[in-house]
Amino acid sequence: MLGTADQTRQAIPQALVDADFDMFALKVPDGDAQIVWTEVRDTHPPIFWTNQNGGHWVFTRADDIEAAQKDHEHFSMREGAIPKGRRGIPSPPIDVDPPRHFAYRAVLSPAFSPKAVAALETVTRSVLLEAIDKVIDKGECEFVSEIAHVLPITVFLKMMGLPLEDAKVLLPLSHQNTQAKELVDTQAARAGMVRYIIDKIEDRRASPGSDVLSHVVHSKVDGQPIAEQDLLGMCALLLAGGLDTVASMLGFFARFLALNPGHREDLVANPDRIPKAIDELIRRHGVANTARIMTADYNYKGVLLRKDDMVLVPNCLHGLDPQQVNMPLEVDFDRPPPIPSAAFGNGPHRCPGIALARMEMKVFLQEWLKRIPEFRIKSGTTPVATIGATNSMQELWLSWG
Ligand code: HEM
Repeated sequence: MLGTADQTRQAIPQALVDADFDMFALKVPDGDAQIVWTEVRDTHPPIFWTNQNGGHWVFTRADDIEAAQKDHEHFSMREGAIPKGRRGIPSPPIDVDPPRHFAYRAVLSPAFSPKAVAALETVTRSVLLEAIDKVIDKGECEFVSEIAHVLPITVFLKMMGLPLEDAKVLLPLSHQNTQAKELVDTQAARAGMVRYIIDKIEDRRASPGSDVLSHVVHSKVDGQPIAEQDLLGMCALLLAGGLDTVASMLGFFARFLALNPGHREDLVANPDRIPKAIDELIRRHGVANTARIMTADYNYKGVLLRKDDMVLVPNCLHGLDPQQVNMPLEVDFDRPPPIPSAAFGNGPHRCPGIALARMEMKVFLQEWLKRIPEFRIKSGTTPVATIGATNSMQELWLSWG
């Protein structure tokens, strides 16, 4: 329903208001979160306002999503998630606008070099094989907890030089951080991550190693050591940035392949097609629902966006825009490039973890399809996905044999 009388943000044309739209309340009937976003797009104006979650705009078209991601002078990352204040602690580089942003981003760059990514591939593969070994004879598994989360948490812990068994502390915190609606819960999750990482920072101060955590702890920005609070935020960002995103995308890929035997058989028979297929699967299954805050009043395409207004940017809608992509809901591994997508952002904050994420997806598709080439959604179950700061696959039962 568009429009109601109790608008909290005055002077917005009634036609642009859906006062009750609540992103956290969107229902995902069979695990296809991205299709839910296309339904939001198709039933609303391209840019609309809601009073929920502190009040914010929603951009639903590819051009507008890309403009918000690239134009940092109007659309700031100072507040990059709905609702305002969600991040809790400063997390550079993601909540710092250019030009200062580059100095913090540069500190993290060794984590994402081709050499660093290649060095993590062997451990990713062996951890995945171990996880597959645990479930293969059962003929079924709950994919999200038993497979999808195992990869990114291993990559994070290895990258930071931390013990792999700490996964059991960090996984629940990361999950609460992205999925909780109430600020108090996301902040509690952040606080938990901070408590975990604070001791590790002290260890690395005293005895540095060759890991990314040691590198960050001993780096300087503008010639000064990085403030303790910023260090904590940077570590929490590396954890939160790579965990729920990768795990959820793997969940959406697995759901898709379970339901589409033709696509699955294609990749089983032609593993060399996996890298190209990954681009198309990413386009169809975007997960991040980022946001921006307006730096000033701005008349954008005839809509007056006010200083400090929040704008929700559902990244998946970029690759699903029929103005950009023919038959966007179809997955076509032969789609001619370039394949448009904003799943990893655009502009200065574009995700630096792309190569890492793609490596995890490649390893998953190569090894899983080799060992379990035929699988389906377990009979009597329905995939469970939710929508929050990410479109998140929560539960996906698969069976085979
Ligand atoms: C499928 C997996 C992933 C997705 C979909 C994803 C998505 C994103 C998005 C949308 C942004 C913000 C871009 C913007 O709004 O302009 C971002 C930033 C970021 N991501 Fe990722 N990401 C993924 C994996 C990773 C991994 C594996 C890591 C690291 C371990 C990572 C670390 C970061 C960092 C540090 C930033 C902040 C960059 C900056 O502010 O300059 N991400 N990511």
